Amino acid sequence: MDIIIRESYDEMSVYAAAVIANFVKSKPNCVLGLATGSTPIGTYKELIRMHKEEGLDFSQVKTFNLDEYLGIGIDLSTPYEKDQSYARFMYEELFKHINIKEENIHIPDGKTKEPEKFCKWYEDEIKKAGGIDLQLLGIGGDGHWAFNEPGSSLGSRTRVQALTKQTLDDNYESFYKKAGIKREDMPHFAITMGIGTILEARNILMIANGKKKAGVVAKCLEGPVTSQITASAIQLHSGGITVVLDKDAASELKNLDHYIHVEKMKRSMGMLI
Ligand code: GLP
Repeated sequence: MDIIIRESYDEMSVYAAAVIANFVKSKPNCVLGLATGSTPIGTYKELIRMHKEEGLDFSQVKTFNLDEYLGIGIDLSTPYEKDQSYARFMYEELFKHINIKEENIHIPDGKTKEPEKFCKWYEDEIKKAGGIDLQLLGIGGDGHWAFNEPGSSLGSRTRVQALTKQTLDDNYESFYKKAGIKREDMPHFAITMGIGTILEARNILMIANGKKKAGVVAKCLEGPVTSQITASAIQLHSGGITVVLDKDAASELKNLDHYIHVEKMKRSMGMLI
């Protein structure tokens, strides 16, 4: 596991984008797993810059998003801040700025009338695409990946999941409040890839920033593997893992000095970008 610590959110974002860009350059038809939330916005900004200024090419890239709120879907006729779907987020924060083909974008359909059937179809589509090469992930305040709330099985697959009070509070503060949407009107369920689905990605790139995430990041990376902190499943992943943190999110790591030392060593040996 490569744990990379950067001074600021912007530096964390630039590093994470470089990991993704390197991947896209080395395998132009790669399959990327993508995430939403406030954390990846800077990473997407940097990818957009690379596309516009350096010609980073997404024309053959396929994407699968982690999750979507159940009951809502993209509606381009409403202003962005009123449309809280993750599909809209992805369109505004990344897709509309790069040369990705619409048919290569996959996001769970929050408007599906048959969620169970849809979830199975989504899993099949990931398989048909050859599996996910690189999965980008944030971490929720309660330690979740995607919407795998505490208690989700570490072998879980794509399914409907009820959201915890903490997740509703966090996402209300970050997104819904600004849109003038009442807390009680937020969707209480979501479609999410499972932890088992995520662990099948060949490579994982997790990002986190801010003091608010420090405790949960430490539990995820250094605590026991537990369904109470579903992101702790990162410790079970057998492929390439890169964790990029800003210094605030890294501040409660017990072995911080060791990670900084390892990063220096690996960089001096040309093993890191
Ligand atoms: C939501 C998403 C997660 C994301 C988390 C953290 O719950 N489903 O994929 O990691 O929010 O969001 P933020 O980056 O805003 O802290």
